[in-house]
Amino acid sequence: MKLDGGKVEGVPSLRWGILGAAGINRQFIPGLLRAGQSVQTIASHREGAAQKLANELGLAGERCPRCYEGPDAYSRLLADPTVDVVYVALANHLHKEAVLAAIEAGKPVLCEKPLGLNGDEAEQMVAASRQAGVRLAEAFMYRYLPVNLFALALRPFLGQVLLVRASFTGRYDPGRPNYRSQASLGGGALLDIGCYTVHTARLFLGELRVLAAHGRFADQDDGIDLTVSALLAGNSGSALVDCSFETSGSEQRYQVVGENGLLEVPVAYNPHGAPTSIRVRGQTLTKATLELFEEWRQHGQQRQADGPAVHQAEDGTLEVRFDPADPFAREAASFAVAVRQDWDYAKSDGSGTGTRANFTRWLPPPLPPEDAWSNMRILDAILALARAVPSYTIPADHGDGTARGR
Ligand SMILES: NC(=O)c1ccc[n+]([C@@H]2O[C@H](COP(=O)([O-])OP(=O)(O)OC[C@H]3O[C@@H](n4cnc5c(N)ncnc54)[C@H](OP(=O)(O)O)[C@@H]3O)[C@@H](O)[C@H]2O)c1
Repeated sequence: MKLDGGKVEGVPSLRWGILGAAGINRQFIPGLLRAGQSVQTIASHREGAAQKLANELGLAGERCPRCYEGPDAYSRLLADPTVDVVYVALANHLHKEAVLAAIEAGKPVLCEKPLGLNGDEAEQMVAASRQAGVRLAEAFMYRYLPVNLFALALRPFLGQVLLVRASFTGRYDPGRPNYRSQASLGGGALLDIGCYTVHTARLFLGELRVLAAHGRFADQDDGIDLTVSALLAGNSGSALVDCSFETSGSEQRYQVVGENGLLEVPVAYNPHGAPTSIRVRGQTLTKATLELFEEWRQHGQQRQADGPAVHQAEDGTLEVRFDPADPFAREAASFAVAVRQDWDYAKSDGSGTGTRANFTRWLPPPLPPEDAWSNMRILDAILALARAVPSYTIPADHGDGTARGR
């Protein structure tokens, strides 16, 4: 499937209503257009903000026929009969109300991650979606990055999955006037970026429980979590996940260790258009990777324009490089197919290709909303544990004045 804009074969073209003149739209809307979708309207509470965004994205006139602005902008969008499907691009504390309103209006809704502020909110949204029979999915676009589709396709060849290690770190100034800086608005590192690491662990290990967690919190009333790490356990193995807003040592990687080898994705969550790669070690996994990559090429997914895509290092590590690709386009295409053609969801472990011809290994259906609920419940537990566990520092001496040995 080539997602280059215009009509995309096999993908129904829907008219999208965008709730919120949000920053994320600068990535999402170009992907939407690449997937052959159209922007029918953008709604913003702020006067002028929707039109400004539409202009900035070259959507003035016919390409975005309407902008709703002001206090009733969201309800006008939801009442608009020309809107087929809604994308919730709002700050996290606004997700629940917007999703419930979209479901009540009978509009299928793709909601940005995370699905609300906590497990209770996610549960309410899932229940409303199931009761009304209106489709809901959490927009975890990283799952649609080629490198992650590929990693998941390798999952059966790993044998039993024993360990997952996932990190998403970077620098965010908690003094910024942004919802990310306030816990009550759904701010904090865990909901913003840690949610990806937990999700990855669940994709490879299945459902997990939280054994331990530690956090550093901003020292103020509505103090957000700044750096969090957690140990999770499943039936076959365990996961170490961490996230941070406090470091210049930015990374977004995961490793999966299975009986048959190890796979690593060094840039896993948002490469912003850069090429991505996967590294594997272990004979079975290496063989499966080479075979799968051949399928990937035959499926027309790789241009092979710039240098060899496959490299084997002297220590046996095989590295496969993927062309840059737009995960938002795949995400939008997948949601459009799911809305129009069937109600299939992928299995919640991320495997499964759906039963309709348009869903393939390389364009999987959305995950069921229950998956988002499960993710939120783990995030709740991590945060509760991290807030409960007192932070302590290891003293620089033994407490008796003698220095600790190295
Ligand atoms: N998938 C990804 O890669 C990715 C990347 C970044 C963010 N996200 C997700 O996308 C969502 C939006 O993130 P963003 O960075 O784009 O957010 P943002 O631009 O800071 O805000 C999004 C919208 O939320 C409303 N809003 C923000 N702060 C508010 C406040 N304090 N009070 C009332 N309304 C407020 C505004 O709506 P109006 O326009 O109506 O005023 C704003 O346009 C979040 O859920 C985030 O987790 C996903």
